Amino acid sequence: MNIHERPLLAWPQEPGRVPYWVYTDRRVYERELARIFNGPTWSYVGLECEIPETGSYKKTTLGEQSVLVVRGKDGQVRVLANRCAHRGVELCQSQSGKVQDFMCPYHQWVYDLEGQLRGVPFKRGVQGKGGMPESFRTGSVSLRRLAVHTRGGAIFASWSEDPPPFEEYLGPAILGFYDRVFDGRPLRLLGYLRQKIAGNWKLMLENIKDPYHASLLHVFFVTFGLFRVDNPSRVITDESKLHTALASRRGRQELNDGTSQMRSFNAKLSLSGPELLDSQKEFPGDETVVMHTIWPNLILQQQSNTLACRQIVPCGPDAFELHWTFFGYMSDSDEMTERRLRQANLMGPGGLVSMDDSEIVARIQDGIRANAPDEAGIVEMGGLGAETETDHMVTEVAIRAFYEGYRKVMDL
Ligand SMILES: [Fe+2]
Repeated sequence: MNIHERPLLAWPQEPGRVPYWVYTDRRVYERELARIFNGPTWSYVGLECEIPETGSYKKTTLGEQSVLVVRGKDGQVRVLANRCAHRGVELCQSQSGKVQDFMCPYHQWVYDLEGQLRGVPFKRGVQGKGGMPESFRTGSVSLRRLAVHTRGGAIFASWSEDPPPFEEYLGPAILGFYDRVFDGRPLRLLGYLRQKIAGNWKLMLENIKDPYHASLLHVFFVTFGLFRVDNPSRVITDESKLHTALASRRGRQELNDGTSQMRSFNAKLSLSGPELLDSQKEFPGDETVVMHTIWPNLILQQQSNTLACRQIVPCGPDAFELHWTFFGYMSDSDEMTERRLRQANLMGPGGLVSMDDSEIVARIQDGIRANAPDEAGIVEMGGLGAETETDHMVTEVAIRAFYEGYRKVMDL
């Protein structure tokens, strides 16, 4: 029996289990593209500050499809399929830029910033011969336009013609955390990092929903107390169980009931450049870190003063790209901008903390790739429930919740 005829394995009966085939099976991945990335979800595609002027655009990927995020003559943000309506050519290859219109390199069909077809060479033929038929109407052809929603300077798009209202989609609790960062102040683009990770895209979301690992894997977090189980923390999930916020307060480099159980804690380590961790309170409340996972493709990071959107771009079942966009606010002082950039050293492909995560995600894929389709991971830390609010970090509750929501969407 070939792989396409073989039925998908059933989800394990036992609670607190995630089957490994969910990370490796090509058919699961195809269903994810159809139901999730091309379905009624809101995917992050960029920040408004990346396309400040009329004609500014950025190219990005939604699911596996190339799209253009463009600012029109009316100032509105549009998201257009980056695919000529004529023969399907990818119109634009640059990552970003500023244009008057988009011209296809193949037959030079021209589209305006709204995606409307404006010009077709030889439309009326040449020397009385050829050309498009009388019935062809330039005005009825356009690039496919996606549904768009912007809030607080971030841009989301959907291939669905009828996506849910964005605010309902996030739910009140997660929206509250979202608005804490995207509070309406104009954003300032600080820079990009990009990496490709040889693991399933869901593992990246799970990693950010998993505070249990943070106190064990990350020597840097543990030692300097940035994110650690002995710190006061909350894990909040919305009703769909798909979005999560992990919120916590920074602790000290001290030996206590928590740190004494952590092999990676070292009371003697010190930084030769302690200004790396010099942070300043800037958000309401006591929490110094909130890591958001916004279904299906955004990790919104607020760790001390470093802010970033990490966009997940799936590339088949066993790889994804992670596009990091670091930002601050236009109102930031130079000193604050410098602080944000300095703290960005914790993050990204070579980040003092995040490097550990990319490495571990690839190692999970290596561990399960060896064809263990009928085996499953154990996700029982903190009990077997999937409650929406937990007041500590010794838990995998958000991963259990995630798979509850995911199975509904995927009908698994
Ligand atoms: Fe981590």
